Amino acid sequence: MDKNQTPIYTGDIAAEHIDPTREYTTENQEINFSNEQHAIWADLFAGVHQPYLLEHLCREYTRGLELLELDPYRIPTVTHLNGRITPRTGWHIERTVVRYTLADDWYKKFGQRIFLITDYLRTRDQMEFTPEPDMFHDIFGHLPFLTQKFYADIEDKFAPAYMKATQEEREVIKRLAWYSTEFGLVVQDNRFKVFGAGIISGRKELTRTIMEFYRLGRDNAIDYTRPIFPQLNAHFQANKTNLHRIIDGVNALHQKGQMSSADEGWNVVLSLYKNLGIKQEGMFGGEVIIAPFDIETIARIPKTVYAFNPMLFVCESLEQMDKLLDSYLKPIAMRN
Ligand SMILES: [Fe+2]
Repeated sequence: MDKNQTPIYTGDIAAEHIDPTREYTTENQEINFSNEQHAIWADLFAGVHQPYLLEHLCREYTRGLELLELDPYRIPTVTHLNGRITPRTGWHIERTVVRYTLADDWYKKFGQRIFLITDYLRTRDQMEFTPEPDMFHDIFGHLPFLTQKFYADIEDKFAPAYMKATQEEREVIKRLAWYSTEFGLVVQDNRFKVFGAGIISGRKELTRTIMEFYRLGRDNAIDYTRPIFPQLNAHFQANKTNLHRIIDGVNALHQKGQMSSADEGWNVVLSLYKNLGIKQEGMFGGEVIIAPFDIETIARIPKTVYAFNPMLFVCESLEQMDKLLDSYLKPIAMRN
């Protein structure tokens, strides 16, 4: 890409051609960050590390965040991260110059239990939203989980299936990873809790997601004094046809490249209710749609980068997530 050209994100991040000689080796993983980069890290950290936000994150994340012992004021070294992660789960962190890895390369590393982190940190004008996963996303969003065995087990499922999958199945696998580890929700203590690293590492996305939890209660769509998952599931079953119409609408916008700028992507769901004549109430009352983690539905919605992810999928527990992922991934991984 021409250096002076502003990248246009159409919803897919284009493959970036990098000079392989610039890639990090096992010996030179560490970077001397500027004071400004450490200051950006500190502001991003403080933006999310707030009690009124942390209470909405799943407990495995907050546990892992303590174990990772991140410095709120300084970007951690790879040595620090591996020191906290490798003894616990056997995973390794490696630095890469690639800003957005192609899935095939990514899964090859994944198969070796190597989690790549980019060397790119967002700039001051991208504090609220960055379409690219940057260092803050990779480290703050994912790595607390990688201290946890259950998460390492979940991550272990994807690569073996991906390697044996057909091209069509690979698309589904990418979506399953996207709507679980990046944008998944889970029920804990009879509340919706945030699981996905893509939500956790974006203050705006996180607060909007939490606002939807409250909106569901305020509009009497969910009664939090009763078990919430069966209620959500009942809404989903009753509204499947309209949900699929909305997904088709999202897909159409995505194909036209209208899903991924802050101006066009926010509140895309609100305009779809209007255009499709769907009454703005119940599970369709907010800026984001929350539905159970239904593989058939997830397979219909593209893995792509949204300014604001329009749809979030919930598992009844992390054990259920494990089982649902296995139901799709295991038969593929076990092929000869
Ligand atoms: Fe990620």
